[in-house]
Amino acid sequence: MGFNPKVYSKVLLVVVYLVGLFDRVSGIGANWGLQSTHRLPPETVVRMLRENGIQKVKLFDADYDVLKALGKTGIEVMVGIPNDLLQTMATSTKAANNWVSQNISTHLSKNAVNIRYVAVGNEPFLATYNDTFLSTTLPAMKNVQAALVKAGISSQVKVTCPLNADVYDSSPSGMPSAGDFRADIHEYVLQIAKFLSDSGSPFTVNIYPFISLYIDANFPVEYAFFDGNASPVNDGGTTYYNMFDANHDTLVWALRKNGFGNMPIIIGEIGWPTDGDRNANLLYAQRFNQGFMAHISGGKGTPMRPSPIDAYLFSLIDEDAKSIAPGSFERHWGVFTFDGQPKYTLNLGTTNSGALVPARNVQYLEKKWCVLKNGVKLDDSNLAPSVSYACARGDCTSLGYQTSCGNLGTDGNVSYAFNSYYQIQNQKDEACKFDGFGVVTRSDPSSGSCKFPIMIRPYYYSGANQRFSHLRVSLSSVIGVTLFFWIVI
Ligand SMILES: *[C@@H]1O[C@H](CO)[C@@H](O)[C@H](O)[C@H]1NC(C)=O
Ligand SMILES: *[C@@H]1O[C@H](CO)[C@@H](O)[C@H](O)[C@H]1NC(C)=O
Ligand SMILES: *[C@@H]1O[C@H](CO)[C@@H](O)[C@H](O)[C@H]1NC(C)=O
Repeated sequence: MGFNPKVYSKVLLVVVYLVGLFDRVSGIGANWGLQSTHRLPPETVVRMLRENGIQKVKLFDADYDVLKALGKTGIEVMVGIPNDLLQTMATSTKAANNWVSQNISTHLSKNAVNIRYVAVGNEPFLATYNDTFLSTTLPAMKNVQAALVKAGISSQVKVTCPLNADVYDSSPSGMPSAGDFRADIHEYVLQIAKFLSDSGSPFTVNIYPFISLYIDANFPVEYAFFDGNASPVNDGGTTYYNMFDANHDTLVWALRKNGFGNMPIIIGEIGWPTDGDRNANLLYAQRFNQGFMAHISGGKGTPMRPSPIDAYLFSLIDEDAKSIAPGSFERHWGVFTFDGQPKYTLNLGTTNSGALVPARNVQYLEKKWCVLKNGVKLDDSNLAPSVSYACARGDCTSLGYQTSCGNLGTDGNVSYAFNSYYQIQNQKDEACKFDGFGVVTRSDPSSGSCKFPIMIRPYYYSGANQRFSHLRVSLSSVIGVTLFFWIVI
């Protein structure tokens, strides 16, 4: 038979389809959070993902517009169920069915979104939650799994639960081989692992060398990075040169010890913030993320799991409305700034240029800033309340010891606070009054590393997550049947 382009292209498409079915995309993923006062339009972010070769995203909820924008892109999606829904999901199979129907099935069938995972809860066993979600997490996972089975999509969409890395430890020796689930929650984590194993799902964990450095001033800095400069840790002949490998393998040992030696692991979050703490800066973030990419490149794994690492960077874009209870750095995890501009050079190994591609056609507000009026006495007793007001509703996390705007001096501090509030309020005139202390200027007050941002134009999400569909036909079956007829005919 001679070369027939029509047959050839059909065969090629079938191969692409089959590969898509059976091979979960490797490469790097990214976390896309929405806790921002001003979000980029979802289409803009999706284009950014594609142009940067990011094939997987992890979401923290099920925003309709975000999911819709991810439709027909092939990008693998992990959809999240927030912790505050765990109680409901745990106690009501109806709620779980409705959630799956509205937030998963609809997007699979109607919007062609490549949903692969549901993340039930987000780090629900974190110590700060005081065991609030300890007994609801697994029942919620079970109900969501049952709903996926009922909807006929449980082979495409797997249930998992991103856990923080302190659900396991390695006491008393501190060696990865001493790894086990933490004693006080051992039974809970064991039951989750058992459930994941039974449903063929991965164990998802978030690993943060930055946090180790943040909470422990004596943590060896070099061990957080991948340059091999730290004193190695020798675990019975296996040598560890960085915390990521050691922490990951502590989990591998914990799983093995409890009978799940082959359970796949997903790194749900990994990254480094760029501001808000003395260890949160561009240099360290670049060094960590680039080091991590090199560390896992070419499918290299860890000493205990030399297979490819499946990881999601935390995070894609800065979120200026995140809680700063854990620390001021929380609003600065992005590889990109709030407006989708790369913060530093990072080669993800996914683009031809090797450079990050910024968001396109970003719409900004006018080029104007709100600053402290000239001649105001800094000891005016009415000034401090204005600054507190501005910082509480704006974002002052770039002010502080060894941060990007840490050297502004008092008047610069006040201006920074005023401007932050003014931008977040979309440059409304009233938002630069501050009892007569504020004034609008057209000259950029930024200096050195300290940027006074201009906000992006507000984007209003349609909030259309009420749209509902009872279609239960999965995307794969639609494509499968279509292809079948197309080939036969
Ligand atoms: C779908 O997800 C959204 C966002 O997390 C949530 O607000 C909504 O209640 C969910 N729908 C159902 C039916 O549970
Ligand atoms: C946890 O407990 C501490 C101390 O009792 C309390 O201050 C904190 O508000 C609690 N946190 C939550 C999320 O319930
Ligand atoms: C500026 O503000 C930061 C954060 O509130 C504070 O740590 C710093 O001391 C202030 N600097 C001056 C000179 O007031």
